[in-house]
Amino acid sequence: MDSLLIKGGIPLEGEVQISGAKNAVLPIMAGALLTEERCIIRNVPDLSDVRFMGQILASLGAEVKFEAGTLEIQAAKLKGTGDYDLIRKMRGSICILGPLLARLHQAKVSLPGGCVIGSRPVDLHLKGLAALGAKLKVEGGYVLAKAPRLVGADIFLGGRSGPTVLGTANLMMAATLAEGVTVIESAACEPEVVDLANFLISMGAKISGAGSPTIQVQGVDALHGTEHEVIPDRIEAATFAIAAAATNGEITILGSRPDHLSAVLDKLRESGVKIDRRGRTLVVSRGPRLNPVDITTLPYAGFPTDVQAQMMVLMTLTPGLSIITERVFESRFMHVSELARLGAEISIEGPSAIVKGGRPLSGAPIMASDLRASAALVIAGMAARGSTQVNRVYHIDRGYERIDDKLRALGARIQRVKEA
Ligand code: UD1
Repeated sequence: MDSLLIKGGIPLEGEVQISGAKNAVLPIMAGALLTEERCIIRNVPDLSDVRFMGQILASLGAEVKFEAGTLEIQAAKLKGTGDYDLIRKMRGSICILGPLLARLHQAKVSLPGGCVIGSRPVDLHLKGLAALGAKLKVEGGYVLAKAPRLVGADIFLGGRSGPTVLGTANLMMAATLAEGVTVIESAACEPEVVDLANFLISMGAKISGAGSPTIQVQGVDALHGTEHEVIPDRIEAATFAIAAAATNGEITILGSRPDHLSAVLDKLRESGVKIDRRGRTLVVSRGPRLNPVDITTLPYAGFPTDVQAQMMVLMTLTPGLSIITERVFESRFMHVSELARLGAEISIEGPSAIVKGGRPLSGAPIMASDLRASAALVIAGMAARGSTQVNRVYHIDRGYERIDDKLRALGARIQRVKEA
């Protein structure tokens, strides 16, 4: 397993281009299964999750070509059985369930297992698809689904922790080919759901309300091929903004969607970070003084759970007490013990992390536990004195395109150590 060796204490400076959004492209790839015709998807980041998803679609019979940021997917023929080992490895693959049911009237998808960021149930996905008339059972670690016909329905999709992003995606995709009208209440409002809706609309789907808690889908007989450009990755942009502030640097973030980043930019400003917004460009630097802040993660448009770990690093560098409360995923605090190895003082009280910030961090060997935690540890390594080795870095390659190259171009001393 590769690791990243980081020499800390160097301020990031220069320009960085934001890639396409991982969380938008994965469900869009699944959506391409809804038609026999060719779909061309642009601004696709070269990530291991995207390549995995491509292999899953290929194992289901689709032709998949990925070159220079453009994906071509054509599912002229589709089979009900795919490479289940591959499907099991990737949690995002749950969103093939809706398209397979709509097109083949049956599907078998492995259940996402327990995950380090908390249990990831799929009850809401199943509830939504059952309301459209699917018969579902969970057997031997798989979801087995059958639906000779899908019929539109009114569905409340809110759960204990609020709406579900991929659950909304699954249901919206299945409903595009159902008979009649589907209304999804308490739908996820994330920009990635809107991007998927725009992709489906360009295929001929009749969807309104995406981006609001009520989405309406009028089923159609068939969808056709299309071309679509994926939105920029708001989590990657937020990660670079925090990295600039944490290293006391100044960077220019190109090609982001600041309108998707309101909650993050608001908290960064409150914490004393200077942000100059010029259209799709953000210039970010640390202000004269950092202030402690309290943050609660929430569904969009609240503060994203996927930026919680990175923001915690900035809080460890900020004198005073900051409280970070996690409301989307229980136990998403695996990074806390690793940050402690660098000298951070953080205690966990129920769903909250209390950060006593201001002590300088110093480098140490640390271990990445999940995708966003790895990004946080890399930021911490760049802000710490001395050398930090971040192990199990394959997590970061799942969701950040060439992150070490991009950071090196900003002046970071970061080196990938390949496993012998
Ligand atoms: C997506 C993102 C992930 C992000 C998360 C929340 C992708 C590929 N992943 O994950 O990066 O952190 O949204 O913004 O887009 N829940 C249920 N029952 C369900 C489904 C979810 O109780 O059937 C719960 C989850 O345990 C969690 C909450 O709902 O507490 C939100 O999860 P959800 O929005 O479904 O996350 P994902 O779509 O899997």
